[in-house]
Amino acid sequence: MLDLRSKFPDYYQYYGRNITKKLSLSNVRILNDSYSNFSLDKKILNISSKINTEQLLDSSLFRKIIIEVGFGNGEYLIESALSNPNILFVGSEVYVNGVAKVLKQILEHDIKNIRLCGMNFIHLLNTLNQNSIDELKIINPDPWHKKRHFKRRLVNLENIIKISRIVKNKYSSYITTDSENYFNHINEIFSSNSKIIHENKNKILSKNDTLYGVSRYQRKAIKNGKKIYQITF
Ligand SMILES: C[S@@+](CC[C@H](N)C(=O)[O-])C[C@H]1O[C@@H](n2cnc3c(N)ncnc32)[C@H](O)[C@@H]1O
Repeated sequence: MLDLRSKFPDYYQYYGRNITKKLSLSNVRILNDSYSNFSLDKKILNISSKINTEQLLDSSLFRKIIIEVGFGNGEYLIESALSNPNILFVGSEVYVNGVAKVLKQILEHDIKNIRLCGMNFIHLLNTLNQNSIDELKIINPDPWHKKRHFKRRLVNLENIIKISRIVKNKYSSYITTDSENYFNHINEIFSSNSKIIHENKNKILSKNDTLYGVSRYQRKAIKNGKKIYQITF
């Protein structure tokens, strides 16, 4: 992964953190030795040969395909994969330390139903076929609080259109956020573009909801008394 990042920096580029602290030697080793066994990156880079989603993901043996974008330290991804061995989970994350953490867990538990993409999600999104994915989840994307940074937000009109194209059914894409501003911003995108994107459903999550408290970011927000908003489209 580290070699691909330096050879094709444009594909890995993103506004936030990529590597926050220096990579430990064990993380460098695991990325160098094992990342390519689970990663889609090389296939995405070679995509000129027309490859369909099933070939890209090697997904023929799985009942469903679920993508998690920005999995952070990967706890929800790993837990989901362990409890649903018949489903293929595709994890997208640019944060290298998070990818290394997930790789460690994959090896430790001998997990067969995870594929990883360490590039900016947009490149995976652009590669997937129409109606090829069963569900997509973005758990607390970076909120980019400052107005001048709103354009960096992952959930924008262009990406909503592209996600709607690759996901098979309506209301199978989920976003959660603890940022009221981001939540309103997303709602605004839906209401001002109702001619080109279908409508969304909203909810404030509570304890019994599936996506409540599933990640570190979420739990931190909950601990600080914040609401968790969910947008489904
Ligand atoms: C606020 S964190 C949330 C992490 C995790 N989902 C959680 O809730 O704990 C957002 C994550 O999304 C990742 N991310 C942001 N933009 C991305 C992109 N374009 N492609 C892939 N990952 C991205 C960041 O690296 C970061 O780890």
